[in-house]
Amino acid sequence: MKTIILIGANGKMGQAALTGLGKHKVITAGRSGDNCDYQVDITSEESLRKLYKDVGHFDAVVNTVGVCEYATFTEMTEQQWMSTVLSKMMGQINIVRIGQEYIVDNGSFTLITGILNVKPIPFAIADATTSGAIDTFVKCVAFEMPRGIRVNSINPTVLEEAWEVYGEMMPGFQPVPGTLVGKAFERSVDGFVTGQVLFVDA
Ligand SMILES: NC(=O)c1ccc[n+]([C@@H]2O[C@H](COP(=O)([O-])OP(=O)(O)OC[C@H]3O[C@@H](n4cnc5c(N)ncnc54)[C@H](OP(=O)(O)O)[C@@H]3O)[C@@H](O)[C@H]2O)c1
Repeated sequence: MKTIILIGANGKMGQAALTGLGKHKVITAGRSGDNCDYQVDITSEESLRKLYKDVGHFDAVVNTVGVCEYATFTEMTEQQWMSTVLSKMMGQINIVRIGQEYIVDNGSFTLITGILNVKPIPFAIADATTSGAIDTFVKCVAFEMPRGIRVNSINPTVLEEAWEVYGEMMPGFQPVPGTLVGKAFERSVDGFVTGQVLFVDA
């Protein structure tokens, strides 16, 4: 049994990840801290460092947080770009950058991206761009990780559980059940792969 920190546990993707982590001890964290073991803000280095210090010993970090702004490219402001970059891109890079100081030897980090960087739709340019950045980050940083630490991203299509919210924006997409996406998180945590983008598409 591994001890896993699941960041974003209350969200739709967090709940999907949870379905794949059943055989482990899962420590939950989120921005509000509601129904979670710990409160954390992934956009704050201080908050991430405190989380890792407070948890102490952990074998894996699974992050399902990456808040994105949605607008057309011509209308998206620099502020909207920056809030997406600071959460979905830098927040996730900092989860690994700071977390590698604290995680056990041969531990793993699993990050979240999303299919829109390979199947673009209107309004999602910031989500797509930062997902592409994180997919590139995991592929390249895997070569630099110390002490056998692994790092992968999960790149899912839209969840059935989120179809009501995103379905209208995504004509022609086939949603997948959260349990299928949970399998990809399981593969990342329990397998031996590193530097991989694990796609889950229909
Ligand atoms: N939903 C989908 O179908 C789908 C498909 C592919 C990819 N994705 C990607 O998955 C990610 C999560 O999406 P979601 O649908 O799960 O969103 P969601 O249901 O809105 O959940 C977001 C979660 O993130 C937490 N959070 C927000 N900002 C945070 C911060 N600064 N620090 C720590 N936690 C924070 C929230 O915590 P609190 O509740 O405590 O505020 C919430 O639990 C996004 O990047 C999205 O692009 C989603």
